[in-house]
Amino acid sequence: MKLSRWVATAAVAVATVATLNTLPAAAGRQYDPTDQSLRNLGLRHNLYLGTAVDMAALDDPADPRYRQIVGSEFSTVTAENVMKWESLEPTRGSYDWAAADELVTFARQHDQRVRGHVLAWQNQLPKWLTDGVADGSISNAQLRDLLHKHITDVVTHFRGKIWQWDVVNEAVSDPWDTPPTLHYKGFWAEHLGPDYIADAFRWARAADPKALLFYNDYNIEAFGSGDPANDKTQFVYDMAKGLLARGVPIDGIGSQGHLGTQYGNYDTLQVVAALKKFSALGLATAFTEVDVRSEVTEGMGSNEINPRLQASAANYHVLLQACLADRHCLSFTVWGFTDKHSWVPGTFTNEGLANIYDENYQPKRAYNVLRGDLIYAGPPYVLPRVPQKPRR
Ligand code: GLA
Repeated sequence: MKLSRWVATAAVAVATVATLNTLPAAAGRQYDPTDQSLRNLGLRHNLYLGTAVDMAALDDPADPRYRQIVGSEFSTVTAENVMKWESLEPTRGSYDWAAADELVTFARQHDQRVRGHVLAWQNQLPKWLTDGVADGSISNAQLRDLLHKHITDVVTHFRGKIWQWDVVNEAVSDPWDTPPTLHYKGFWAEHLGPDYIADAFRWARAADPKALLFYNDYNIEAFGSGDPANDKTQFVYDMAKGLLARGVPIDGIGSQGHLGTQYGNYDTLQVVAALKKFSALGLATAFTEVDVRSEVTEGMGSNEINPRLQASAANYHVLLQACLADRHCLSFTVWGFTDKHSWVPGTFTNEGLANIYDENYQPKRAYNVLRGDLIYAGPPYVLPRVPQKPRR
């Protein structure tokens, strides 16, 4: 090889290694033109396609399709529940890492990256913690120390194995809350004040210098009025800008993408505009929990189901196309992939049909629409992802 070409190749290799965020995970896989899986099609754009994983389903020998699809269709996984505080530390001072470790091992065996979910959130907290605060045996100063310890212990345990951490989840209220003016809400803000957010990012960074640190929330897919008093996307944008101005090590914004076909929906250009506004701050973006539910009634006939499946697919399409359009949108994760294992029917009465496979693991229209988006995208509007460098 000529010296100049050797130098150029070496420079590319060095740059590639430097920008891969030092995770070996899926680096080994090359795009295979004969493989039509989501994960393989994503390689054309250096985009990671992910799913939340229900560990009971993954381990169920009577349900082998679940495990097989997680491994074959996705290049990144998120623990649906097993990395939440109530699962990791059900008893004060004694950790149970087994299920979370198992997912990390599964991911390594399948060349997948892991999104860590979640460090500071007001839900699914252990009872000993919320009870202790309620009965006064844990003071606010002790609570802050406990959050610091939790983040340090968990991030340290998984150090080097997590690509993106959801450091803070759902810290902002909704217009239907009281008061309706948007504000920092929930357990942590009430007891520690909004500065717990900056603290959480700093503590996470101290425990893992290389993981990408995300703020994650719902209903931030597009900007609305632009008034932070009632536009949640604007509120989160202002928050992120403020954190960056203070030197807080935040690397990305996770837009959950829990949508419903019965609500007003977005078009691609609106969502692209939101992603690009966040990435213009120097942040990565990701869709982290996409599902699109519909109202369902008992005995619904196929004539009624069909438009809902179409509408659901259209919403998946808008979010994925928008992600493809922003070079800083690093991953697109669905919150479960089959209607057989979905949080929707258990949470929203008479709602369902939210996922990309049906209850019998038959791919739905949404699945094929996602594949089409990945196949028929390319320059000049869709270019490979720009890897994000963790902020110090
Ligand atoms: C939120 C959380 C997730 C999950 C979903 C619903 O979006 O971030 O962990 O609990 O709700 O299941």
